[in-house]
Amino acid sequence: MKIVSVVGARPNFMKIAPLIRAMRRRSGIQSILVHTGQHYDASMAGRFFEDLEIPRPDVSLEVGSGTHAVQTAEVMKRLEPVLERERPDLVLVVGDVNSTMAAALTAVKLKIKVAHVEAGLRSYDRSMPEEINRLVTDAVSDLLFVTEESGEKNLKAEGIAPDKIFFVGNVMIDSLESSRRLWTRSNIVEQLQLNKAQYGVVTLHRPSNVDDVRILEGLIEALCVVAQRCPLVFPVHPRTIGALKSLGRFRACLHFGDGPAPATGIRCMDPIGYLDFMALVASARMVLTDSGGLQEETTVLGIPCLTLRENTERPVTVTHGTNRVIGANPSRIVSEAAKVLDHPVQPPAPPPLWDGQAAERIVTILLDQFSGR
Ligand code: UD1
Repeated sequence: MKIVSVVGARPNFMKIAPLIRAMRRRSGIQSILVHTGQHYDASMAGRFFEDLEIPRPDVSLEVGSGTHAVQTAEVMKRLEPVLERERPDLVLVVGDVNSTMAAALTAVKLKIKVAHVEAGLRSYDRSMPEEINRLVTDAVSDLLFVTEESGEKNLKAEGIAPDKIFFVGNVMIDSLESSRRLWTRSNIVEQLQLNKAQYGVVTLHRPSNVDDVRILEGLIEALCVVAQRCPLVFPVHPRTIGALKSLGRFRACLHFGDGPAPATGIRCMDPIGYLDFMALVASARMVLTDSGGLQEETTVLGIPCLTLRENTERPVTVTHGTNRVIGANPSRIVSEAAKVLDHPVQPPAPPPLWDGQAAERIVTILLDQFSGR
């Protein structure tokens, strides 16, 4: 069978890596990789291909940045002739970025079957672009692979036929486990002159947190208080850097550059690769983030995670993991961080099927579904 896999943005890369490997291990699958180019900087894309040993894409669409409509439309326009030429049996998409939704729509309109990996997650917050991407992608997909039980429940409640839904575990955790040997060798913690378990890691890139300067200011104010007790390192997403540099009143707390982290305060640095980032998180005292994937990675690594959002589409990270969803209120952030610092907790066991074998399960199901066609 011929499968075209489509990736576009940073969080897609760690999800596709184990799937590409599993597909190449099996006979009977011709795998073609398309990179839309939604993320294009070396630090947001190229480095991840190297770190995760993803083969060079067979096709690069080079869509780049744009408004949501422009980005979605460009992916569709440029992917359509590729799918018409290749006529695959299946288009495989992962996650919830604009490239995911655009590729799923392009395929279904050409009557090509679509498989969605990481289906069924719902924040029930339609102001999040990812929630729209998830709803649309799931509505047009033929095979829906879910990471946690909530996904199955949500899809059934939306009327998706149960025989299209497969609870397989989490491919993001496959990547974390298969590269553990590599990231444990990273010396990023020493390079930044940090002491293990005595620093926090911050990431912020959601439009709801970083596009409104007053909200961003509130967050930074709270993080600066936390950083007086526990120094923070903050690899900054390109969409956040400009706004952050404009916050002049935090000059004493925000330190830009790649040198050693300050004893107190926040070291803001360029985005870092996958292996260094996993090493940084695995040795941290806590993580403060608005990322989706990081809620899952901290769950498996047993690192306390404070999610700076009002909701999560990944509730298993709260019920089975180390995650607390605390919103963006500055005083709440300060008090929740103090609780983490004052009361270490024993990390629970990972959620069901987050065992590093999700990609193998998915590929077995694909071969089974398409055999004898
Ligand atoms: C996208 C995803 C988001 C995911 C995030 C991870 C959507 C709707 N959002 O958000 O779900 O969590 O990726 O990073 O798909 N830029 C660069 N270099 C790059 C890429 C982006 O400088 O390589 C800058 C550009 O100014 C661009 C902005 O970042 O306009 C936003 O990029 P975009 O891909 O639109 O969304 P993200 O915020 O990265």
